[in-house]
Amino acid sequence: MKTDGFYSFVPDIRIMNQNIKDQIQAINQYIDTLAYGEHPNELYEPLRYIMSLGGKRLRPLLCLLSYQLFQKDWERILPQATSIEVFHNFTLMHDDIMDDAPLRRGKPTVHEKWNDSTAILSGDVMLVKAYDLLLDGLSIDPAQTIRRFNKCAAEVCEGQQIDMNFESDDNVDIDNYIEMIRLKTAVLLGYSLELGALLAQADQNTSDQLRQFGELIGIGFQLKDDLLDVYADQGKFGKQAGGDIIANKKTFLLLTALQLADDNQRITLNEWVQKTEFNAEEKVNQVTAIYDEMGIRELTLKKMNEYFDKGLSLLQQISASDTVKQNIIEFTQYLIDRDK
Ligand code: IPE
Ligand code: IPE
Ligand code: MG
Ligand code: MG
Ligand code: MG
Repeated sequence: MKTDGFYSFVPDIRIMNQNIKDQIQAINQYIDTLAYGEHPNELYEPLRYIMSLGGKRLRPLLCLLSYQLFQKDWERILPQATSIEVFHNFTLMHDDIMDDAPLRRGKPTVHEKWNDSTAILSGDVMLVKAYDLLLDGLSIDPAQTIRRFNKCAAEVCEGQQIDMNFESDDNVDIDNYIEMIRLKTAVLLGYSLELGALLAQADQNTSDQLRQFGELIGIGFQLKDDLLDVYADQGKFGKQAGGDIIANKKTFLLLTALQLADDNQRITLNEWVQKTEFNAEEKVNQVTAIYDEMGIRELTLKKMNEYFDKGLSLLQQISASDTVKQNIIEFTQYLIDRDK
């Protein structure tokens, strides 16, 4: 699965600077040292499997970068940064059951390769392992840290439930959608940055601003994820093309299309949304054709850029190391440009 000591399914690291690459490599090396447990193998094997599939590792990286705005010795907080990645992978394992997704990072999802029960239980133990890592050598108040994490984790669950509720709700508007993705995705990016700042003993106001920055770019990040779900090259993206269309996800793309559609387009879109028996490829192609006609791709990119811009202007206002801020800006630019 790995090539040259590095993961095969990673972001295009050629476009990142050396400093960021070194930190992603350190995160991956740290992950390689983790022994989660052995017996029974059926419980731990899926955990090792999903963690070994790579991924962008953006949340632990954001945590390390945020820490470095105030302190240099980032290696010290690798357990805490990695706890976020383990939690993230747990949410993916369960999300793939909920979304009936066959592929993750170019490989079969855990519930496909094993079964739902295995993916549920292995996911559960990952949440426990995430707590262990968070507490490993923790230098700040553990009770407060756990409460902060718990708030974020509960919000992710809220967002995930709302995402599923929306599949069969015809009254979702763009504001409802933005709040749903703030919860399911953006709060975890916010928490990653906030935790890095708290570990570096930054003041409350600054760590709050970094959390807000993370939430803003997190919303932009999920908008890009929704866009890639339709428009990415599947080989690169590593997930089923059009999965959101198949599942009637109320993404920005679908909601905007429904809002701007003429009568014919609205009838066709609603027919596809209501059909219970259909050919998946045909549904994806037809819905995508309507998106193309309406310029939905461009509208989504515009909305995405609004959130990244808001985030970046907030970052400018935070007083901290300019060199590290520059690094965060470069990584944010990578998230804007990414194709997987
Ligand atoms: C996927 O997250 C789930 C979302 C919140 C969109 P990532 O796109 O960060 O997935 P990996 O970890 O890089 O595979
Ligand atoms: C997932 O959103 C967010 C969480 C896992 C909490 P998606 O369902 O869009 O993520 P992908 O596209 O499957 O990675
Ligand atoms: Mg989902
Ligand atoms: Mg999903
Ligand atoms: Mg998605």
